[in-house]
Amino acid sequence: MASAPLIVTLDGPAGVGKSTLARRLAGELGIAFLDTGAMFRAAAYTLGEGAWDWTQGILQQKLGDFEFSLRGSGADTELLLNGKPLPEAIRSEEAGRWASQLAVVPSVRAYMKMAQIFLGQTTPLVAEGRDMGTVVFPGASNKFFLDADPDERARRRCRQLEAQGKPADFAAIAASIRQRDDQDRNRSIAPLKPAPDAVVVDTTALSEDEVLEKVLASVRGS
Ligand code: DC
Repeated sequence: MASAPLIVTLDGPAGVGKSTLARRLAGELGIAFLDTGAMFRAAAYTLGEGAWDWTQGILQQKLGDFEFSLRGSGADTELLLNGKPLPEAIRSEEAGRWASQLAVVPSVRAYMKMAQIFLGQTTPLVAEGRDMGTVVFPGASNKFFLDADPDERARRRCRQLEAQGKPADFAAIAASIRQRDDQDRNRSIAPLKPAPDAVVVDTTALSEDEVLEKVLASVRGS
C-alpha cells in the first residue's frame, strides 16, 4: 500500500513567525508549504466585510465557487485561488481581523478543512495555521506549536512592516494581535491550542535560524 504524503504541521498565534518558518522548512525538506491563514484571508477579502453574518446556506453556495490549489514547492510554493495568485491586499491587519471573524463560522471551517485535507492527500506539505495538528491533520507524524509573548510578536510585525517601507504603529498592532488571540483561542470550533502530541516551541528569545534548526532537527530525527 502506498504511504500517505509527509505532513508537518505548524500551529500558533498571529505574528509568531509561522509563515516564514513554513517557507524555510519547506525549502529545506523539498516539499510544498500551505499557508492556511491565507486561505481564510482570501475568502474574507473576496466575500467582503460582514460575510460572517450571512446564512450558512449562502456562505456554502459562495464557497462552492472557490477552488484552492498549489503550484511549485519549497520556498517558491504558490497558493492559487481559482487558478490565480492571491492579492497582496489579503496581508493587511484588517483582512486578518476579517479572516479571524469569518473563521468562527461552521460552514467556512468545514469548507476549509475539506479543501486542506484534499491538498494534503495529494501533496507532501508543511501546513501552517491554527488547527492543523488538532483538527485537519491529526494523524501527521510531525507537529509543532509555536508561541511567543504578544508584545514580542507585535515588535516582529513592526520590524517586518518597516523593512517593507510601510508605516508601523506598535500600539495598534499589539491591540490587533491581542484581539485576534482572544478570538482564535476562545472560539468553540477548532480553537487555537497545541495538539497533545505537538512539540511546543517558545520562540520569544529565539532567532528565526534557531527556530528553524530546532524544528528541522526534530523532523529529521523522527
Ligand atoms: O495566520 P493568519 O494570521 O494569516 O490567519 C488569519 C486568520 O485566519 C486567523 O486570525 C484565524 C484564521 N485561521 C484559522 O482560523 N485557522 C487556520 N488554520 C488559519 C487561520
